[in-house]
Formats: sequence, C-alpha cells, structure tokens
Amino acid sequence: MASKPTVLIMAAGHGTRMRSELPKVLHPVCGRPMLHWVIEAARGAGAERIVCVIRPGEIDRARIPEGVEVAEQTEGEGTGAAILAARASANGAGGPVLVLSGDHPLLSTELVAELVATHEREGAAATLLTTEDLDPAGYGRIVRADDGSVERIVETKHTDGVAAEELAIREINIGAYAFSGPDLFDALDAVGERDGERYLTGVFPLLRERGRPIAAHRTSDTDSALGVNTRADLFEAQRRAHERILIVHALGGVTFTAPDTVAIDAGVEIGPDTTIEAGVALRGTTTIGSGATIGPQTTITDSSVGDGVTMPHSFLLEAQVGDRATIGPFSYLRPGAVIGEGAKIGTFVEVKNSTIGARTKVPHLSYLGDADVGEDTNIGAGNVTANYDGARKHRTKIGKRVQTGVDTTFVAPVSVGDDAYTGAGSVIREDVPDGALGISRPKEQGNVEGYGERKRAEQETEE
Ligand code: UD1
Ligand code: CA
Repeated sequence: MASKPTVLIMAAGHGTRMRSELPKVLHPVCGRPMLHWVIEAARGAGAERIVCVIRPGEIDRARIPEGVEVAEQTEGEGTGAAILAARASANGAGGPVLVLSGDHPLLSTELVAELVATHEREGAAATLLTTEDLDPAGYGRIVRADDGSVERIVETKHTDGVAAEELAIREINIGAYAFSGPDLFDALDAVGERDGERYLTGVFPLLRERGRPIAAHRTSDTDSALGVNTRADLFEAQRRAHERILIVHALGGVTFTAPDTVAIDAGVEIGPDTTIEAGVALRGTTTIGSGATIGPQTTITDSSVGDGVTMPHSFLLEAQVGDRATIGPFSYLRPGAVIGEGAKIGTFVEVKNSTIGARTKVPHLSYLGDADVGEDTNIGAGNVTANYDGARKHRTKIGKRVQTGVDTTFVAPVSVGDDAYTGAGSVIREDVPDGALGISRPKEQGNVEGYGERKRAEQETEE
C-alpha cells in the first residue's frame, strides 16, 4: 500500500496580477476560497499532514480549515523560498512530500493520487504533473532530453530571453509534485535566485545532475491544470467549477430552467424534483429540500428551505423555511427568521429574528422583528412590530389562531393571546388576553357632510 504523503501547499502572496487587497488563494471559486479546494484535494488523496505556506499575518488563522498546519515564509521570494519555509514541517516525513500550488482550485483528488502512484511505482526522487492540452502561455515549459526524460523547466511568466524553440513547447508544468524529502531540500539549498526569486522548478536540473531519477505523469485533465494568476483565470475556473456543480445537481434530479443565469455555491445541497428558475443565487451553506420551486430572481445565503416550498423574487439570509411554505414574491427573510410548515410570507414582507407558526399567513406589506407568532394566525396587511426603542430590542408575542387587523402596530414588549383579534389601525401597547379584541383608535368617525362640494366651489372662485 502507498504511504501517506505530507502535503505542502504554496499559498503565500497577493499575486500582483490579481490586483486585489485579498490574498490570491482566498479568492473564492463558487463561494469557496481557492485554497480550500486544494486542501480538499489533498485530504481526498489521503494526506497525513497538510501544511500551508503563507506570509506572516497575511491570512487569518480562522480562514484555514481545522487540522491544517501553517508555515510562514518570512524570507525570500518565489516557490522555492516557499518550500524552504516549510522545511521543518516536512522533516521526518514518512511518505513522499507532495508540493501543491494554492492557485489550482480544480486540482482533482484523482490526479493527486495518480501523482503519488507514479512517484512510488517509478521509485523517483521527484515526480511532476504535466499536460499538453492547455494554452501554455505563462506556464513553465517542460524541456525533455532526447531520451524523453525531463531535463529542466523553463519559466515563461517573462518571455524575454526565452528561446523560440522553448516557447514553442506545449507541455507545461502543472505545479504539483511528489518528492523524496531529503532530495527536495538538498537540491533546493543549491538553487540560486533568478529575477529576485528562487524557483522551485530549479531543483530538476540539479537532481538530474546528481543522477537522481525524475518521473513525469502527463494528464489531459485541463481543469486540474488550470492555474489562477489573474481574475480572467479566476472566472475561467469559476465557469468550469460551476458547470460541474450544476451537472452534479442535475444528475441528482434538480431542474434548471435557465442554467446560464444561476450561481450555485460549492457547498449547497438541493433535493430531487426541485426546480431552480432564472436568476437564482444559492450561497454558502444553503440547503433546499425536494419538490421546491425557487426563483425566478431569488438569492438565498446560509439558509435552509424545506420540501415543496415556492419562493419567487425573494432574498434570504440565515433563515429557515419549513416544508410547503410559500414565500414571496418580494419577501425579505433576515437572520433568525424561522418560518413554520405551510406558512405564507407574502409581498413586501420583512421578517427578522422571529418564529412564524405553521400555516400562519403574513401576506402583505408587514415587518415582523423579534416576534413569536403561533400557528394558524393571520396577520393583516401592513402590520409592524415596533421592536426597537432606540436603545434595546424587545419581543412581540402573538398567539395561535389570532386575526390581526390591517395596520396594527405592536409596541414591544407586548403579547397578544390565543384566539385574539386586533382592530384595524390599532396601536397595541398593552397585552391582549386570550380571545379578546385589542383595539386602540378613536371610537367614532366624524364625517364632514358636503365637504367635496364646498371644496370644488372654493377652487372655482380661486380660478
Ligand atoms: C508556477 C511554476 C510554473 C508552473 C505554474 C503552474 C515556479 C517557479 N513556476 O508558476 O512552472 O507552470 O506555477 O501554475 O514554481 N507562492 C508562494 N510564495 C512565493 C511565491 C509563490 O507561496 O514566494 C505560491 C503562490 O501563492 C501560488 C503558487 O506558489 O499559489 C505558485 O506561484 P505563482 O507565482 O503563481 O507561480 P507561477 O508563475 O504561476
Ligand atoms: Ca500560478
């Protein structure tokens, strides 16, 4: 059985060509930082230890997944300097030392496993991955000797001084390698600087000089080979990753009526027989049940949505929606909104940090914040919880089977009992007991007789 590799992931630097304040490897592909994709591939390939090389203070430790170690590149520039910074972490590695680039988000577990298998089968000191199936511009080109063995790698990030026949080489270095640890570090110590950088790729001619065996595994997996140096590369990676995500969902029974218009993050789960309409974005840790219809034009982030829910034109953040609820059009569910089974949240309704009971309806133009509403209640149009007194938030409690009149305002803290009513236009400041009608408005309506006629007469004399 193959021994478990120690994996070093080069992840330092902002990547100047990204033109960003954000470190390059934290740029997301389908909502997940590039670095996390590479870590997943390393884990999938059975890594014993994973060490990310970063610059001191560059990446918040919290952004690095649990169980992954960090080595700091405090001196020197370039991929060679990055690996030297991880020397202590790789010391005493039992199996091979794998080196991966943090900017290859689509590197597959299968390809990493093939790299390790080739390395062990060939008994090599160093094994690298190559491909001939990508536009080679900017990548390191593989120069092979007459006998087909790898001689050296020519960097083409800068093409000045690179020979035309080398620029004509299509075979590129993917930037994922397996090494025997001692061979790697002995050679790296002897690699000099070029344009102010120490290139990891400089170890290959040195290993060759020393008679150490080098193996190469050529692949046609162009997704794995895709390196991200610019945001144009980033959207190419995004496009490919997204296509793969949609296909997995489609094969799992999800219908996309307009697949080119949706954005589905990597971690999202969707049940079978759910339809995702045009313009839908599903972000973060969102889960959608089966038989639901989401969209058109709906954005859901870090929320859970049950089976059979319909949800056109809505916006959800950290909300939970029960089975068969109907949401929208134009509903806004904010953090802590928990909507019960079969409930209805309708047009221009905002709900925050509130539980809405099963089968309860909030059909039109309302704001419910910090409220607990029981089952089978009907909230009239335009109801508002006055939950904030300028300093603190207070809760509103509305019971089961309540019918509130249109334009009821609840001045929290306040509670309305089960089976109670509120009168249209009421401002509810005091608790309403079970079964009572809470009403607060002038009892009588004054009608000014003949008002319209007088008004018109006045206007005519003015003219
Ligand atoms: C590198 C390879 C090139 C290969 C290509 C594949 C070298 C010298 N060249 O080129 O042969 O075809 O990847 O994509 O290795 N990094 C550090 N510290 C540094 C510099 C870089 O950790 O000082 C990390 C970066 O975060 C990045 C990775 O190493 O994730 C690769 O660096 P990058 O500058 O993108 O190398 P390339 O020019 O793409
Ligand atoms: Ca790169």
